[in-house]
Amino acid sequence: MSASGDLASRIADALTNASTDVGVAPDVDALRRVANAHTGKGSVLVGLKSSLGSITDVEARKAAGRAINEALQTLEALVAERLTGLEVAAASAAAAGEAMDLTEHLARRSRGHAHIVTQAWERLEDVFVGMGFKVAEGPEVETDFHNFTALNMPPNHPARSGFDTLFVKYGSPGSTLLRTHTSPVQIRVMQEWDLPIYAVMPGRVFRRDTPDATHMPVFHQIEGLVIDKGITFAHLAGTIEAFTKAFFGSEFSSRLRPNYFPFTEPSAEFDVRSSSGKWIELGGCGMVHPNVLKAGGVDPEVYTGFAFGFGIDRMAKERHNVADLRDMYANDLRFMRQF
Ligand code: PHE
Repeated sequence: MSASGDLASRIADALTNASTDVGVAPDVDALRRVANAHTGKGSVLVGLKSSLGSITDVEARKAAGRAINEALQTLEALVAERLTGLEVAAASAAAAGEAMDLTEHLARRSRGHAHIVTQAWERLEDVFVGMGFKVAEGPEVETDFHNFTALNMPPNHPARSGFDTLFVKYGSPGSTLLRTHTSPVQIRVMQEWDLPIYAVMPGRVFRRDTPDATHMPVFHQIEGLVIDKGITFAHLAGTIEAFTKAFFGSEFSSRLRPNYFPFTEPSAEFDVRSSSGKWIELGGCGMVHPNVLKAGGVDPEVYTGFAFGFGIDRMAKERHNVADLRDMYANDLRFMRQF
């Protein structure tokens, strides 16, 4: 009796140890190792089983065999239960890892912005498109014809020398050059578009100038051209005034001063009064000269028109209070980031 009582307590001990180990197995792999150690070949329970042959009493041997099998079944059930628990825990941990934390703050990526000349260019287009104009662009390398002759400046015209031209190929009459203003696009639009014309033509222009605070050899202009029946100087003045208010604000106003351009007659310079009350010169304008209409294939007896042109860089400079134009092209991010 003492032998079987001893066996019963060894089975109970083995089961207790095994169930403790199963309960603390931290993951599925560890659980497999624990299960194997307590139910596999080298385990206490299997060892007890193989020692059953030494029990001579048949009934006692059967009872001991049943007790060991029951212990093994109990253990298997515990392992299965623990396995399910571990799998559920692993699945929910994985889900938690994939979940989005909507309260999390990430440092903002720094983001660049358009150059202030580009900003002014785009805003100018917006304002004129809002007033019913279409946008056109022309080539930066121009013919002598479009840049000068068609604009009422035949060869040897004195006004040509005022443009400080950079020639690409020099030889009259077939010169090509870097356009000195956006006015040649007037000619291209007249030649290519149907009438009436309401167009603005922004672009890069070039002059042989030494850079200083107010001049750059490469700069930007926006040209305007209106051609229709019955267009008068009043339309020009009204358009400039409406533009001034739309672009700068309703507290701004414009004025025109007589001037001379070969391609407009009469011609004017136009100024805008800034918020400080000081007048700033923005550009030139006038009624399109009949010779220019003819060069563009438009009949000056039927149509009249006005044109204007002004510097985009100067507008950006005034708007942002930049003292020196050269700063806008030095590619210094410490400067550009201010805007
Ligand atoms: N093209 C002239 C300039 O660059 C400006 C202008 C354009 C004047 C259109 C009158 C009409 O100075």
